[in-house]
Amino acid sequence: MDTSQHFKTPDWLAAQPRELLGHWPTPLEQLPRLSAELGGPQIWVKRDDCSGLATGGNKTRKLEYLLADATNMGADTIVTYGAVQSNHARQTAAACAKLGLECHLLLSRRVPRDDDNYLKNGNMLFNYLFGAQVHCFDLDEFDDGQAALLKMLEQRGKTVYQIPAGGSSAIGALGYSRCISELVWQAPFKPTQIIHASASAGTQAGLVFANAAEHYNIDILGINVFHPDPETLELRIERLLNAMAERFSPPAPTTPQIQINHAYFGEAYGQPTQAAKDAIKMFAAWEGLLLDPVYSSKAAAALIDQITLGNFDQHEHVVFIHTGGAASLSAYRDEF
Ligand SMILES: Cc1ncc(COP(=O)(O)O)c(C=O)c1O
Repeated sequence: MDTSQHFKTPDWLAAQPRELLGHWPTPLEQLPRLSAELGGPQIWVKRDDCSGLATGGNKTRKLEYLLADATNMGADTIVTYGAVQSNHARQTAAACAKLGLECHLLLSRRVPRDDDNYLKNGNMLFNYLFGAQVHCFDLDEFDDGQAALLKMLEQRGKTVYQIPAGGSSAIGALGYSRCISELVWQAPFKPTQIIHASASAGTQAGLVFANAAEHYNIDILGINVFHPDPETLELRIERLLNAMAERFSPPAPTTPQIQINHAYFGEAYGQPTQAAKDAIKMFAAWEGLLLDPVYSSKAAAALIDQITLGNFDQHEHVVFIHTGGAASLSAYRDEF
């Protein structure tokens, strides 16, 4: 369902093939109670958790471009990668079910948890319901497992399209170029500040790319939730930006600005911090909003802390992109 009839994407973006999978535009909602509780600024949420595909999330936008590419190439089978509770894997499984594609999920046991909830609930339950074939590996078995699966699919005569973890390729990142254009189009104010969770880099690269190409002049702050060394995230974003510039040749972009904050990462990927758990409770209690324990809650913890530190003007409008993920809450039941 695409209800954004009056929304016109930039020409370089409109030229890219796209398979409609979600409900657009996602709402842009104000959070008056939370804003008042924290003493301003005006907090807005771009509800990409309501993207319309299988409990929503940021991967719907990326998959629209990736699966259009896959079907144009004649693929009948999708192989993708992630951690055991990957939201990207769940969204890919749902999209494949919708399009009638065979779906293989190669999931790494990178979070040190072996409880039943983590291994079988949340996204894992949904992967099963969407009919995806799930292959779980320890990190040191992953490459061999991948090679064996790809060989088996080749022997079966499958035409395979591989999607990198998080859907973060130049093509996938286009989804977030579309998101920022949609936001600028729908906002009843001029957006100046975006904050969001950043991991495999496609969300941030897509936002930053269109921000520069279209001269939106928005400050985009990515909260690192995946990389122990934030420089790795910055390098990945740079690499994606270069690949996008080579491939999509938008009109003379200004130099993209990459801003990353690592202060809310905590001990490791997939391990909620106390501040993230507090943010989950705060968003739920004050606004009836569900965050996820791995991504959006760390970004929300950053938003709350930056407000508390007085780093935003009281009259400013800050847009928090809710990238989804609440499907994994039940896998983290024990944290609450
Ligand atoms: C809920 C959620 N938020 C944010 C992200 C980060 O997006 P990206 O991988 O594009 O950096 C992910 C990635 O898996 C996610 O699942």
